[in-house]
Amino acid sequence: MSRHDEIKASYKQLGNIGTMYDGIITRSTPLGKLLDSLVWGLDKTLAAKWIDEALSPIPEDFTGRLLEVPIGTGVLTMPLYRRLADADITCLDYSADMMKNAEKRAEAMGVSNVRFVQGDVGALPFEDESFDIVLSLNGFHAFPDKDAAFRETCRVLRPGGAFCGCFYVKDEFKRTDWFVEHMYVPKGFFTPPFETKESLKSRLDGLYSQANVHTVNAEGVFCCVK
Ligand SMILES: C[S@@+](CC[C@H](N)C(=O)[O-])C[C@H]1O[C@@H](n2cnc3c(N)ncnc32)[C@H](O)[C@@H]1O
Repeated sequence: MSRHDEIKASYKQLGNIGTMYDGIITRSTPLGKLLDSLVWGLDKTLAAKWIDEALSPIPEDFTGRLLEVPIGTGVLTMPLYRRLADADITCLDYSADMMKNAEKRAEAMGVSNVRFVQGDVGALPFEDESFDIVLSLNGFHAFPDKDAAFRETCRVLRPGGAFCGCFYVKDEFKRTDWFVEHMYVPKGFFTPPFETKESLKSRLDGLYSQANVHTVNAEGVFCCVK
């Protein structure tokens, strides 16, 4: 089985228990709080910090074209898209099982300015320079071909556009590194090689005219301008 298929199978299971995933990623259940604290060393304030900072480059009155990849279950961003009613939003994920949760969520919330596309971040089915913002939350530690993912997300962004988001970076928080190696990689949720804060900064500097990277424990938060 290829790594793409292994990852798809792992996220199929997670997609089928989407509400459990939502509770973990939003820290809104006892299990989510436990994992945030035990694996990531985050309390409530720090947990809110990484998501707020990753989303902060998106203006409150944004009306342009935004690509989010991967959308997952959409639990982190659908409330934002409801507020950005005049924006043109495209959400992509390799796992139709994860994404069906996002589609249901959009429908339940009455969000109609979002379209969903199943696909691979390494071969995005979009024209060059066709988005004003590309957002990627918790995706790059999962993607099997990091070079292709960085190349493609940059290709579809217009000059002057923003690339922002977050994902796991190694060597910042030892406890997280241990859990990633012993749990998340074997389960297929994360795929090495992983960036360090420094390697991420250097990679983004090579692709973008401005690149800012900082960390909240093991979460690398980035914002770039093409
Ligand atoms: C940890 S989830 C993050 C989802 C969401 N952004 C969030 O923060 O909740 C990682 C997602 O990456 C997706 N994924 C993995 N490989 C992919 C690929 N090659 N192309 C697009 N999505 C991929 C998985 O299907 C999964 O939904």
